[in-house]
Amino acid sequence: MNWQETTRNKMLRLQLPTDPRWVDVAKISLQDILVDHAYCEQKAASSCISLIIKFPELDKLVDVLTPVVAEEWAHFEAVMEQIRKRGYTFGKPRKDEYVVRLQAFIRKGGSRMDQLMEYLLMNALIEARSCERFKLLWKNLEEEDLRQFYYELMVSEAGHYVNFIDLAKHYQSTEVVEKRWREWLEYEKEVMKNLEIRGDRMH
Ligand SMILES: [Fe+2]
Ligand SMILES: [Fe+2]
Repeated sequence: MNWQETTRNKMLRLQLPTDPRWVDVAKISLQDILVDHAYCEQKAASSCISLIIKFPELDKLVDVLTPVVAEEWAHFEAVMEQIRKRGYTFGKPRKDEYVVRLQAFIRKGGSRMDQLMEYLLMNALIEARSCERFKLLWKNLEEEDLRQFYYELMVSEAGHYVNFIDLAKHYQSTEVVEKRWREWLEYEKEVMKNLEIRGDRMH
C-alpha cells in the first residue's frame, strides 16, 4: 500500500482533525491508551468476522475480509506485547462512546446491499480516524520503539480503509457510495466535535 497515495488523496477527507490536546493527554496515560487500543483491534477483527457471517454469499467480501481478520488479530497481539513488556496490566473493555455514536447513524431498512454499505462505511470511518490518531502517536511519542509501532499500524489501517471503501463501491454504485460517504463524514465531524477529549481512549 502506497502510504502517500492513500492518505493524501483519500484519508484526509476526515472533516475535523483530532484536537491536538488529545495526543498530549494520551502520552501521559499510555497504559490506558494501550489497553483501549487492544480492544479497538479486537473489535476490528470481530467486526470483520461478523460481516463474513452476515454476508457469506458475497465472495469478494469474504475473500477481502478474511485476511483482514488475521491482520487485526495480529495487531491485537502486537498491542498486547507492548502492554506486557511494559509491565502494564490488561483489563476489561471500556465503553466505546465513539463507536456507539457512529452506530446510531446506521440507516435502518433498505435492501440488503444498502445495509452492507452502512456497515462498510462505518468500518471505513473507524479505520480512517484510527489511522489519523496513530499518525499523531507516531509523530508525537518519545519512545522510538512505540513510534515505529504506530507508524506500521497507521499504514496497515490505511490499507483497511481502502478495502472497506472499495468493497462498498463493488456492491453499490460509486455515486450512491460517494453521497452516503459524505453524509457519514459530516456526521463523524459532529461526533468528534462533541466527544470529550480523553487520554484513556483511542477515539
Ligand atoms: Fe488494526
Ligand atoms: Fe484496521
